[in-house]
Amino acid sequence: MNPIEQQLREAVGKFKQDQVFRFWDELDGGGRERLLGDLSQVDFSLMNRLVDTWVKNTPKAEPFERIEPVPVIPVVDPARPDAQEALAVGEQALRDGRVGLFLVAGGQGTRLGFDGPKGSYPIGGLTGKTLFQYHAEKIINLQRHYDCVLPWYIMVSQANGPATQSFFETNEYFGLNSDDVYFITQHMVPCVDDQGKFMLEDRDHLAMNPNGHGGCIQAMVEHKVLDDARNRGIDTLCYFQVDNWAVKVADPYFIGYHLQANAEMSSKNHRKHKPREAVGVHCLCDGVYHVIEYSELDIYPQLLETDANGNVVYYAGNPAIHILSVDFVQRVYDNFDQFPWHLAHKKIPFIDEGGQRVAPESPNGYKFETFVFDALRMATHEPVALEIEPPGEYTPTKQFEGDNSVVAARESMTNFWAKWLDASGSSVPRDANGKATIAIEISPLFARTCDEFVAKSAGKTWPVGSDLIVSEDGSVGG
Ligand code: UD1
Repeated sequence: MNPIEQQLREAVGKFKQDQVFRFWDELDGGGRERLLGDLSQVDFSLMNRLVDTWVKNTPKAEPFERIEPVPVIPVVDPARPDAQEALAVGEQALRDGRVGLFLVAGGQGTRLGFDGPKGSYPIGGLTGKTLFQYHAEKIINLQRHYDCVLPWYIMVSQANGPATQSFFETNEYFGLNSDDVYFITQHMVPCVDDQGKFMLEDRDHLAMNPNGHGGCIQAMVEHKVLDDARNRGIDTLCYFQVDNWAVKVADPYFIGYHLQANAEMSSKNHRKHKPREAVGVHCLCDGVYHVIEYSELDIYPQLLETDANGNVVYYAGNPAIHILSVDFVQRVYDNFDQFPWHLAHKKIPFIDEGGQRVAPESPNGYKFETFVFDALRMATHEPVALEIEPPGEYTPTKQFEGDNSVVAARESMTNFWAKWLDASGSSVPRDANGKATIAIEISPLFARTCDEFVAKSAGKTWPVGSDLIVSEDGSVGG
């Protein structure tokens, strides 16, 4: 027996997970290597702690005495003096090369009914441009505008990493310098059944899931993102989610507010209009900044309260747009044993004792995940909370139709860009509800903001009589 196998067998025995070797005698050399490969990723004592806390005992809600809304900086109004000061600070940080970008893209497009990394979803209804391309075009625009390099760190999972990287290669990094784009892979954790036992997805393979976007903290340190950032003189990382087409990548206002406050981690939020909206809620729990995930709202029912006018009291919804300082990520990593975990009861396909594949019809096991917003409670300086208006900043694409969908995102972006066209003097036709009756896409390579669009449109009349694509050079059409 080789030393690695021996070590893993000891750990498996100690933590009573021997069922993982059930099919060992039937496996060939490659199969055994694959199983040992899975097991070597497992932090056995962590899993033991999670099973003891969450599966063998009934998890208790954190007992907060007092939950209050977070103090929020209102939506940016460029005319406000505080906004002007924040903009100046944020723009200077960009020009000085202090800013890096961190994208979490470990998820698949499953809920979209799409077979591939979510970022390769063709979000542009007219152009077919993907989420990755839109993000990349915004980055190129920012680099040109601020004469800086914005290294782009992208977290992928084992499931979508190779496909994501080859997508970037095939598309020549969408015009970015490949030396400034880094892929890092997050850890996986085993799924457990209702007794806390690891499950087999195949004879030679554990059922596992990515460790949640909180896994970016470990991934950033272990894959030397922080070292690279420091070598480049970067101290500020702008974090965003792949599924948000509208995100203002490296928003200088947000960066400015964050730096002025000397914050270690900051978050944007948007006003919830319905208590059950599928977003986490920013709040202060016993005075400490938390985000309570939407799946956990029933544990803290006051977070669902509305006032006499029907407005949601705890309105600060989580669009998952954050800023983290490089030193803060290191500190959270150094204390990662205190980082909270969450569990979800899910349908997990597995093979039974006879080796038969089972696709369960109801939840049969647990997945454990970490959430990056839990780092907020570890910040020693008060996090900045900046409210946004969703159009043009937040269009989550979780499914094809309905709330938070591709269809809704396309409509939202069309109406957002329609305002730019109006401002440039080309009035977009609207229906009785004020919605644009044409579809619109404007390349972020041409303009990233309304002001830039208006300036570049001087003397132009845009053909708004039918669907409109504005390309990089301002030409009309694909
Ligand atoms: C998430 C947030 C929710 C927020 C909403 C905004 C969580 C737990 N909740 O909900 O508070 O209001 O987005 O749209 O995230 N990802 C990884 N690795 C993982 C898991 C996820 O990289 O292991 C990435 C995904 O690629 C995606 C993002 O994290 O970019 C969010 O994951 P998703 O499953 O879409 O989260 P939601 O439940 O929609």
